[in-house]
Amino acid sequence: MLKPLLVHDDSDDFAAAVLAGLSQPQKVIPARFFYDHAGSELFEAITELPEYYPTRTEIGILTAHAADIGTAVGPGRAVVEFGSGSSAKTPLLLRAIAPAAYVPVDISAEFLQQSAAALAADFPGLTVLPVAADFTQRFRLPQGVAAMPKLGFFPGSTLGNLAPMAAVDLLRSFGDVLGPESWLVIGLDLAPGATKSRETLEAAYDDAQGVTAAFNLNLLTRINRELDGDIACDDFAHRAVWNADLGRIEMHLVALRDTVFGVAGTYFNMAAGETIHTENSYKWTLPEARLVARASGWEPVAGWFDAGARFTVQLWQMATVQMAP
Ligand code: AVJ
Repeated sequence: MLKPLLVHDDSDDFAAAVLAGLSQPQKVIPARFFYDHAGSELFEAITELPEYYPTRTEIGILTAHAADIGTAVGPGRAVVEFGSGSSAKTPLLLRAIAPAAYVPVDISAEFLQQSAAALAADFPGLTVLPVAADFTQRFRLPQGVAAMPKLGFFPGSTLGNLAPMAAVDLLRSFGDVLGPESWLVIGLDLAPGATKSRETLEAAYDDAQGVTAAFNLNLLTRINRELDGDIACDDFAHRAVWNADLGRIEMHLVALRDTVFGVAGTYFNMAAGETIHTENSYKWTLPEARLVARASGWEPVAGWFDAGARFTVQLWQMATVQMAP
């Protein structure tokens, strides 16, 4: 029997994931653990950095083209947002498409309540049905939207954290959750090309003010606090590199000198230069993005870009299954 490939570990457990990740030859900590309270605030700060172009570029594209999305998908849909951010993006979409309901899905129930309440206040008359769920796992939509046609919304290039195989899994499960005849609006950060240099991309993950470095290093602080660790944080430095072969930005924590530390009673050694791999952020060419869509049961219908072709907002429609020739 074939050994299953490990695409993503299902462990929600910070301790189990960190101990397992630090025990591998290339040490790794899953990127989802960045977002404790301090990490979430640092990420908000990242989105406002001059070097971090994705957030403001995507907002610009949505501002310019939300009306086009509205024209394509028509009114009366339930908008299902995967990972309801505190985002400025959602109102841009909702204002342009006359939705029947808004369903934010987020793993943090507390965060979800706050952002859903704020949004409901801005859209009186709109049915808002927050769902506390981990959208990377299968989940069900509330009964109230069962009969409505759906529009999924997945901004922020969040898909970029997933390796291609996991990305296809997730996009397929979006299709299952949203059902036939649904649409998906997805924001994707593009690979370097004619108008986007590798330097632009790397600077977005290694800013001059050191906010991204603080975001990366905060993982070690979190381990020390929550897992009874004694990691010397100043033994580590932030590193962000474009891996051209794999089409992704990688973030690592590099050991500056030989170091030994304990986490939950287990000791780990790292030699100077060794790294903990903390994040992948995949970037796509347009043909790759379209292939990923089709491999996941979606048909690319339209795409919009900024003038510098750094980022794209894509509109995909659930593919109808046809018999192959
Ligand atoms: C939230 C995953 C889209 O990859 O750009 C930002 C996270 N990491 N700076 C990204 C992140 C470092 C971000 N995503």
